Parts: sequence; C-alpha cells; structure tokens
Amino acid sequence: MPKKAYVRAHTNIALIKYWGKRDETDFLPMNSSLSMTLDKLYTDTMVVFDEALPKDSFYLNGEKQGEKETQKISNFLDLFREEKNTAMRARVESINHVPTAAGLASSASAFAALAGAANLALGLDLDPQRLSTFARRGSGSATRSIYGGFVEWDMGTCSDDSFAVPVDDAGWDIGIVIVAVNQKAKEVSSRIGMKRTVETSPFYPAWVESAKRDILDIKAAIAAKDFIRLGEITEANGMKMHGTMLGAEPPFSYWEPDSIVAIKTAQALRKQGIACYVTMDAGPNVKVLCRLSQAETIKEALLEHFTEDKLIITKPGKGIRELTAAERAV
Ligand code: ADP
Ligand code: DP6
Ligand code: CO
Repeated sequence: MPKKAYVRAHTNIALIKYWGKRDETDFLPMNSSLSMTLDKLYTDTMVVFDEALPKDSFYLNGEKQGEKETQKISNFLDLFREEKNTAMRARVESINHVPTAAGLASSASAFAALAGAANLALGLDLDPQRLSTFARRGSGSATRSIYGGFVEWDMGTCSDDSFAVPVDDAGWDIGIVIVAVNQKAKEVSSRIGMKRTVETSPFYPAWVESAKRDILDIKAAIAAKDFIRLGEITEANGMKMHGTMLGAEPPFSYWEPDSIVAIKTAQALRKQGIACYVTMDAGPNVKVLCRLSQAETIKEALLEHFTEDKLIITKPGKGIRELTAAERAV
C-alpha cells in the first residue's frame, strides 16, 4: 500500500525580513532572515505517491485546484522525485488554517507541510536542516517553518547551505496579536513584489546592508532575552522593508488605512508603558509583538477599532510534525 503521509506546519512571522532573491531558480535570498513560528496559524497536508496515478492532483481546502496551481506543486514534488529517483505521481490534499495569500504567510506553512509530507511519503529520511533546503524552493519563508520558536534562515553561499537554524525555543513571555485587517488575497504576490523591488527600488541596496546589521543585533537581543530590544529591531526592520516598496517602479504598498489604525494603537499603548511593537509582511495585516501576559490588554485596546473576529492572539509555535490518526481531517 502506498503511504499516505500527513504533516502539520505552522506559519512564521519574520522579525528580520526576507525581501529579495539573489537567485530566483534556487530561491537564494539577498540576506539572512529571522522569524518566530506561530502556534495558531498552520497548514495540514496529506501526500501519497502511487504508481497507479496518471498525474499529480492538488486539493486545497477541499477544492480541486486548476492547472496553474497544480503545476506549482508538481514542480516542487519533482525535487523529491529526483532525490528518490522515481517518476511516481502524487495526490496532495491540504487544509489551510490560515487565510491563503493574504500576507499571513500561507506559503510558509504550505511548503513546509508539503516538504515534510513528501519526505515521509517517499521514505527519504531527510534531516530537518536538509528538509529546509527543499521547503525553501517552494517558498523562501517556508525554509524557517520547519522549526519552532525563533528561527534563522542563513542566506548561505549555495543551495546546499542556505538553510534554517533553530535559534531559541521562544519559551519566554512572548506572543503576537494579529490584526487581520483584510484576509482577502493580495493583488501583488510576495514573489512579484520582491522582484520588482530588487530590480527597480534605489532604496534596495540600503535595505540589504541594514538587514545584515539588524540580524546580528536581534540575535544578541534573543541571547540576552531582551524583549524591548527585540521589539525595537523588529519594528524598525519591517518599516525599512516597506519603505523599499515606495521606491519601486511602479511604486506599491501593502498598507491599508486600517493598517495605520492598528500601528497607531500599538504605538499609543507603548507610550502608556506596554511594551509592544508592530511588524507587517506582504499584506495589510498587522502583527503586534508583545508579552504574552499583556496580549489580552492589547486586544482590549484594539477592540475599540476592530471587531473581535479580526483579532487573533497566538503564542510561539513548534516545528513540523506528523499528524496522529485522530488529527487527520484531510
Ligand atoms: P502568503 O502571504 O499567504 O504567504 P504568498 O503570495 O506568498 O502569500 O503565497 C500564496 C501562494 O502560496 C498561493 O497562491 C499558493 O500558490 C501557495 N499556497 C498557499 N497555501 C497552500 C497550500 N496549503 N498548499 C500549497 N500551496 C499553497
Ligand atoms: C514579506 O516566502 O512568500 O513575508 O519565496 O517568492 O515564495 P517566495 O516569497 P515568500 O516571501 C515572504 C516575504 C515576507 C518576509 C518574510 O517572510 O521573511
Ligand atoms: Co508567502
């Protein structure tokens, strides 16, 4: 019987961002990045390879996906087929417990889960570090979702050494309040947005230089468990990344009016002595990095502007894992 492999991977939020590739084929980044894996948002994926299947098929949230989406999955699975030296086709079923393509990093949990499941289904036995180099070639941010806690994606020198490194389990008083301003799919995908920025924004070289300093500083803050410093570096790094897009041609921005409302609310809380810092990825949603013990207080303040369903509190999440039989919904 072909093995049906079921794997869960959590999304991650970058504190030091990845925004630009130096090699688009191999997904090699311009700079190293660092993230926190999130407990509440994740993807569950089942993969089975079978001699009897005529072609790959891909179901997302119960719906059969079209040719373009399925091709993306096929290209990714080719990496695993090559490693195993097999031509077997696969069936992939995936459920996102995260909005798809809305700037909440569905591509990170998606390709980490798919990599984990393909590895198990084919019995490849890749170790987590090597597996992260496979996940990377589905979506850069997926590199980091292999592990839990704080994770660095070392930019490396080539495809084999551009991998994830676990930095700290984030088992301290730390959490995120997500302000899901808009959960609809974005107009400019991360892939297109970063490519345009690299190619046209005069601010881009300065971004790379500054991100290289930021990652050293944030690792020192994590080692010292210095939450304030961690937050300050996170907020500044995210703002700098969004600044590069305003310099692109044509210029673009993922921000919406409600993104600014959320940012101002967090900054006002800070003035009142609550340590909280904002960061945003390629989408309008705002993530407020805070002490987990103060997350409810921050949520209360945000409730003055946003409805309850838009506010998600999450703690740091764990790395990928195989699902137990009872957990399998797909
Ligand atoms: P996001 O902010 O959600 O990461 P991206 O533009 O980076 O947005 O990536 C969205 C893309 O990721 C989707 O168009 C799809 O190709 C892929 N994706 C999302 N969820 C899944 C999934 N569960 N399985 C496979 N691919 C997925
Ligand atoms: C802003 O990993 O989604 O979220 O590698 O082209 O699939 P591709 O892009 P993706 O980009 C993520 C960009 C970001 C920052 C980050 O997660 O580091
Ligand atoms: Co993404």
